[in-house]
Parts: sequence; structure tokens; C-alpha cells
Amino acid sequence: MSSFPFVDYQGNELCIESVALSKIAKTFGTPCYVYSHAALMTTLQAFNTAFAGFNHLICYAVKANSNLAILDLLARAGCGFDIVSGGELQRVIKAGGDPQKTVFSGVGKNPDEMRMGLAANILCFNVESEAELLVLNQVAKEMDKVASVSLRVNPDVDAKTHPYISTGLKENKFGISTDEAERIYTEKQTLSNIHFTGLDCHIGSQLTELDPFIQTSKKLLDLIDRLEAKGLEIEHLDFGGGLGIRYANETPPSINDYVASLCTIASKRNKRILIEPGRSLVGNAGLLLTQVEYIKHTPDRNFAIIDAAMNDLLRPALYNAYHDILPVTKNKDGTENYQIVGPVCETGDFLGHDRHLCIKNGDLLAVMSAGAYGMSMSSNYNTRPRAAEVMVDGHDMHLIRARESIDQLIAGERTLQQTIPENNNTRNFA
Ligand code: LLP
Repeated sequence: MSSFPFVDYQGNELCIESVALSKIAKTFGTPCYVYSHAALMTTLQAFNTAFAGFNHLICYAVKANSNLAILDLLARAGCGFDIVSGGELQRVIKAGGDPQKTVFSGVGKNPDEMRMGLAANILCFNVESEAELLVLNQVAKEMDKVASVSLRVNPDVDAKTHPYISTGLKENKFGISTDEAERIYTEKQTLSNIHFTGLDCHIGSQLTELDPFIQTSKKLLDLIDRLEAKGLEIEHLDFGGGLGIRYANETPPSINDYVASLCTIASKRNKRILIEPGRSLVGNAGLLLTQVEYIKHTPDRNFAIIDAAMNDLLRPALYNAYHDILPVTKNKDGTENYQIVGPVCETGDFLGHDRHLCIKNGDLLAVMSAGAYGMSMSSNYNTRPRAAEVMVDGHDMHLIRARESIDQLIAGERTLQQTIPENNNTRNFA
């Protein structure tokens, strides 16, 4: 099966579901993120089918793509959420997500964010250090609340992924070693405003093998056994996210095999299972639509300068990540080798190297597998307004985020003439 089941050529025209990408470009302009409703829902269905019969909760990792339309669809389909900031919590609530199905991850939650989570009665805080646990206890005490807590365990397992997104090795900043977690669970049961309800891990992202997940799960279950032997009851087991997708030639485990392996390991314990998938849910449900601005031939190379850049899709610049790039209109003439680059003033601003394409000025290209960590990692570098986002559902195109304007972008800025110094409120400004 294709990696992009709802993107295909109809004749020479690349379409997403029943809509030609050229029509989307004409209607909303470029660069533009485009998502398939069917791809998102089909993938979610695959997770739920694989879990059938198990007490489970899918907590979508909001950081992968936090557009309210996506959160709303997932919330209405029964998903929970994995958040890493107060801002993400606000998005979940705004989109109609259930805080009681929301877990709060992240290595540096501040007291304000803890307060927001406690006020919303979230399902669980995934706590990453003893120091954080003590602050959470204090904040909860001040609010007369009890925080439900999982400790995030760092199992020291190699996720065999890009070092920047590998999180489960002992040298990484994330989580607490199993021995230390055992000590904290045991000693800190007495904290008045903490209730230990779960055990959590997340060893990295874009994993293409099952083995690291299996090794980690076994370590978690050993720890549960040790804790339960001491009388500490754990209600849920959170396996984090991390399942990889196919960008090029990777062969990640299927959703079914991944879920089955977690369920097999956990089945003897009769615990509620949580997972926090991000990329595997939305990655191949989205693409970045862009137009070729100029073709530039130099003695060494051919450049296609496109209107999308590293500020729109950072993954190639940051991780040297590969994204397939397809012509929106297939052309049968001979191809040439192109460097696909953006307008940003950095040599690192590329979206693809050595792509064999037949293109000219004005042609449209689709940068594939951009549904996860695309828009959510975009920036305004070079004072570039962020792209529009469109969701396609059958024949319908929905604008789910308007293109940013320059006015929006500079709205919070003031010159010194327009500001009153904090220590001198006598000064006038024109
Ligand atoms: N849970 C936690 C605690 C996480 O930190 C993450 C991702 C996830 C779940 C979701 O992982 P996923 O299922 O998406 O692999 N910007 C990078 C990926 C960073 C992932 C950060 N944490 C990229 O573009 O590849």
C-alpha cells in the first residue's frame, strides 16, 4: 500500500481525496499545508481496531500538529491527548477535548502550567524528576487538589533513531532511571497531594523497529512487579509515542504489530494501556503544497527555488530529514537533478537534495509526509508569515488556518518612541 493512501494521480493531476492540489493552490495560495480527513480517520481506526478488547486510551501527542480542527476531529472520535505546555492544554480545551483524557508530559512544566492542569482536572501528570514532583505537590496543596502522577521512566534503551529525537538513553535529559523511580514511588507515597496512578515512558520518535519498544515494556513491567510487591497499586501503563512512518524506504512496524506487541506484554497485568502517538497518526495525512518561483542553473547544480522554506518545514534543515517531493502535474519530458531550496538566507534552507524532476517556473510541488512536525515547528524567520492550512474531506476543502498577515506578525512590537519605560511613566509618546 502507498504511504499516502489518499494522495494519488488522477490522470496527470495529483489529488488529495477528490480534490486536485492545483485547485487548492488556486483557491488558497501557496505555501499551504493540506491534510486528508480520510487519512487521519483511517489511521486512528487502525489503532482502535488493533486495541480491540483492551482497556486503552489513545492520547494524541498534540505537538505533532496542534491545529484546532485536527484536535476537534480526534476529540470527537474519542481520543485523549498528550500535552507538553499550558498552551497545548488550552488548545485541547478549546477544541472540545476532555481534560480527563489528557496527560501532561514534558521535562520542565512550570507552576503556572501545573495550576492550569490541576484546575482542568487532567488525567495525569507525567513527572520527570523528584524536584518537579515536589513542586507539583506544593502547587496542588495550595489549590487543595490531589495531582494524579505517573513517573516517566528512562529505561536506557537505544531507540535507534536520529540522536536529536532519541529520549530513552541514560545520557538524555528525559525521565528517571528505573531504580530511582522505584525509590521515589516508594518514598514519596506519603506526599499529601500526590497520588501515583501510572507508569510512563517515551523513548524517542520515528522508531522503525519493534525491539526497543519491547525491551522498554519489559523493563516497565519489571518495575510494576517490584512496586506492587511493595503494595503500590499502578492503574495505567503509558507507553508513550514514537512509532515511525515511511518517509522514503523505511519499513516501520505496522500499527497492528506495534499495538499487538504492547498488548501481549501488558496482557498479564490487566492495566489500562495508554499510548501517545503523534507522527504515526498525522504524518502521512498531510503534505506541504508549494510553487516553484525560479529555476536557476549554475555550472555545478540546478536549483529549484520554491516559495516554501525552512521556516515552513524545518525537518530537512534540522535533522537532514527526507521528504518525498512530487510534481502536482506529471510531465513526461526528461527529468533533471534539482536542489529544492527555499528563499531563506541560509544554505541550510533546503527541502530536498538531488531530486529528479521535470519542472519549470510556476509549477506546483507537493512535499509529502508533512502532517507531523511541519506546521507545528514552523516559524516566522525572515519575517515570513506562516502558511495556510487546509483540510480536505472528500470533495470539500476547508480552510482550517488562514495564512498569517504581516500585520499579525508584528502586532506585539513597539518602537522605543511608542513605549513608556517601566521606571518612568512621565514620558509622553506621540
Ligand atoms: N510523547 C512524548 C512525551 C513526546 O515527547 C513525543 C514526541 C510524543 C509522545 C510523540 O512522539 P511521536 O509518536 O510523534 O514519535 N520534531 C521531531 C520529533 C520530535 C518528537 C518529540 N516528542 C521530528 O520532526 O521528527
